[in-house]
Formats: sequence, structure tokens, C-alpha cells
Amino acid sequence: MDPEGSEPAPDTAPRPGAGSLRVLALAVQKGGTGKTTLAASLAVAAAEAGEQVTALDLDPQGSLAGWGALRKSDRGSDRESDAVAVDRIQPWEMGQLSEILGILAEQGTTLAVLDTAGSASGLAPALKDADFVLMPVRPSRLDIVAARPTLQALVGLGLRERLALVLNQCPPPPSPRTSAYAAQLRALGVLAEPGIIHRVDHQDALATGLGVTEYAPVSPAADEVRALWTWIDGKMRSASAR
Ligand SMILES: Nc1ncnc2c1ncn2[C@@H]1O[C@H](COP(=O)(O)OP(=O)(O)OP(=O)(O)O)[C@@H](O)[C@H]1O
Ligand SMILES: [Mg+2]
Repeated sequence: MDPEGSEPAPDTAPRPGAGSLRVLALAVQKGGTGKTTLAASLAVAAAEAGEQVTALDLDPQGSLAGWGALRKSDRGSDRESDAVAVDRIQPWEMGQLSEILGILAEQGTTLAVLDTAGSASGLAPALKDADFVLMPVRPSRLDIVAARPTLQALVGLGLRERLALVLNQCPPPPSPRTSAYAAQLRALGVLAEPGIIHRVDHQDALATGLGVTEYAPVSPAADEVRALWTWIDGKMRSASAR
């Protein structure tokens, strides 16, 4: 992460300009649930809705950063006007995340999308800076049980009203199992909607450095991601108004 060619000073005040920057983190202590896939496509959908987005890859695996590199190389001269910047936070920079977000706010980013690793270690610094945490889970008992430690950590950080699980990689409807999990999570007030159905457009979009709303603008996958961004946007606004 080197937004202006220089490291942020260690004594930078935390989150200057924070009022204009919202931070959405994708996190759950379980691998392969769709954090990176949704981070990329939500970043693009938010940019299409008018946000100036920086997507930050906090996962040492570097999948989102790889997507960002593809995006740059494919866009050629368009890249300067791309409303989605993608950057990487190295493990040793995690302690400076608040300062980095402050710099991004000053530079005009209105939405930071944080993609995190599917493990417990190192999650807390990212989550404490989040205005909202989206936890993708597949509609399976193993995924939902595995989300509990992350949920508990978020509640411990005071983020109970600023989190939601989204069912991802859902089988095409009708799926009684998916509906049952959705009903349980909805009753707890922690379900982000709509759920995202398993579709190859998501995989092909990521493979080409695009969000699914760019890759297949007129498609059910794009419609779902746009609707999910609209839901998250509304939730973040109502949470910050409280
Ligand atoms: N809605 C979807 N439809 C189809 N494939 C999906 C969908 N969401 C994710 N995938 C696929 O599932 C796999 C895991 O997704 P992804 O890498 O985004 O998960 P992750 O939570 O970021 O994983 P990790 O914990 O390893 O970082 C990938 O192959 C991705 O293409
Ligand atoms: Mg990932």
C-alpha cells in the first residue's frame, strides 16, 4: 500500500476526513465463502452507483490484488478514470490501517472495501475500522457454524448493528434449505438481501478483472449484486444516522 508514493507517517492522526469515507469489510473466519468475489463486484457496483472506491486486499493470499492487476492491464488508458482503485495492505501495515484510511479519505475515496483473509488471525484490526461488516456464508450448516467466532468478535467490537451475513453460492431456487437458513438469519436481524446464487458469471468476471456488473451488465448475477449493494448502502446510512 503506497497511495502517494510514500508511507504514511506513523504519527498521522487517525482517520482525518473520516466523515466522508465509509468502510465496508468482508470478513468471515472460513475460507472460500466468496469474500473476494463479492468484494470485487460490490466495489464495482458501488462505483457505478457514484462512489469513489478503493478496494484494499488485506489477505496475504493476494487474490483481490491479483484481480486489481488484471483490471489495470486490461483497461489500458481507461485506468485513470476507473472509479475503483485496488491496493494491497501488507501484514506489517495492518497496524497503520486507520491512518491509511485517513489518507484515502483525504484523497477522495468515499468507500473503502476491505477484503480479509478467511482466518481468525489479523481480523480484528480490519474490523475495528469498519463501518459495516458483510459476512458471506454458503447455505450450509458448516459455514454458518464457522461464522460464529467472527460474529462474536464483531459483537465484542460493538458492531452488532453494523453486520450482516449474506448467503452466497446458493443453489438456484427453489431451495428449501437456503430458504430455511435465510428465514433463521432474517429472524435474528442479521441477513443481508438478496442472497447471491451460484453462477459462473461471478467466476468469469473475476477471471477477467471485472465486476460482474461490468462483465454481464444485463444478467441475474449483476442484478443481485446491484441489489445487494443498494441494501448495504441503505444499512450503512441508517446505522450511521443513529
Ligand atoms: N456467487 C458465486 N457463484 C459462483 N462461484 C462463486 C460465487 N462466489 C464465489 N464463487 C467461487 O467460489 C470460490 C471461492 O470464492 P472466493 O475466493 O471469493 O472466496 P473467499 O471467501 O475470498 O476465499 P478465501 O477465504 O480463500 O479468501 C472461487 O472459486 C469463486 O469463483
Ligand atoms: Mg479471498
